Amino acid sequence: MTTSQSDFLWFAQLSRDGEFIGTAAKPPRKPTLEYVSSLIETAAEAGFSSLLTATNYHSEHENYTAAIAALARTRGAGLLIAVRPGMFHPAMYAKMLATAQNLFPGRVRLNIVTGSSPAENAMYGDFEAHAQRYERTREFIQVLRQLWTGSGPQSYQSGVYHFENAVLDPAPVQPIPIYFGGASEAAQRIAAELADVYLLWGERQDMLEERLSQMRVLEEEYGRTLRYGLRTHVVVRETEAEAWQAAERLISRVDPEVRRAFVDSYAKVDGVGQLRQFQMLKEAGETLLVEPHLWAGVGMARSGVGVAIVGSPQQVADKIRGYERLGIGTFIFSGYPHLEEARRFGELVMPLLKGTQSEERVLHGTGVAPVA
Ligand SMILES: Cc1cc2nc3c(=O)[nH]c(=O)nc-3n(C[C@H](O)[C@H](O)[C@H](O)COP(=O)(O)O)c2cc1C
Repeated sequence: MTTSQSDFLWFAQLSRDGEFIGTAAKPPRKPTLEYVSSLIETAAEAGFSSLLTATNYHSEHENYTAAIAALARTRGAGLLIAVRPGMFHPAMYAKMLATAQNLFPGRVRLNIVTGSSPAENAMYGDFEAHAQRYERTREFIQVLRQLWTGSGPQSYQSGVYHFENAVLDPAPVQPIPIYFGGASEAAQRIAAELADVYLLWGERQDMLEERLSQMRVLEEEYGRTLRYGLRTHVVVRETEAEAWQAAERLISRVDPEVRRAFVDSYAKVDGVGQLRQFQMLKEAGETLLVEPHLWAGVGMARSGVGVAIVGSPQQVADKIRGYERLGIGTFIFSGYPHLEEARRFGELVMPLLKGTQSEERVLHGTGVAPVA
């Protein structure tokens, strides 16, 4: 058994949930506040420290709003709230997150999202190119950090943002950790300079190794040390055969129209991480197998991360151990439906990972009784 200390997060589904993906009809379960709240509490009981709430215009709920409502109703796990810098002024967002962390101490973390799709960005008036979006992201994080840690009136003037005499009082009662995803060189540089945790979507091991070694070079250059996190889906069952059956079942009702629209969207993205996912999907071919126990089926009908770890509890735990050996210590998992699969992961896999819980979990997780 390794001695590494990992932090396990689950995914807070803010759209309809169900047993099948890519169906013509909407999945049956609505993301009511009751459902999202019970998902959070189930994940907490299963041993997850936090849940990622993604930012996505197609989701049924806007994630900050839903996150605050759910935090107020639940105890236990926190939320990793994603934000697109272009959507908020950073001085106001610094205040919004400080408020969240002060109302729900230790339960709030932030994931910075720069955007992969010009078509989606255009829906909310963001027409900036990739390089400009990242420049804005960089300044956005600088402003957050300045306002969260500075004392007295704060001013800022650079290429994108300019404000004067902003006073953030009170400051966050606990630091708000900054998570950051993005596979492009611009993303990697900004992560090395300003993030706490660099997130990767699941990829083939050689691809992960390459990116992690690039990041280590950048860590040296910026004189900083990051933590690394991996985001994938999981399909775990008592036996490997059952897990593969469950994986096949998950995509057994993918509607050809949904699939076609999805493949068409491939041509319209400019996110390097997203393009790498698509390429990997293509290379997996008919078998959808990326490498042992890493399956590309989810990518047939879902953007973002398209791979799942598939196997028996021991095989899934071994795969996680393998990632830990690469230096990854944070995991963000999901499965369909999210509530049942969080519980199943807690029952089947968590016991095999015992002894790997991290300090982050103690600070931000089930060990802390929230005020609300
Ligand atoms: C773990 C993880 C979570 C992400 N969450 C979101 C999200 O919620 N919404 C979104 O639009 N993009 C999301 N992304 C996409 C990235 O934030 C980034 O914008 C995108 O990959 C484009 O950057 P790139 O060209 O550097 O890869 C996520 C990426 C990762 C690795």
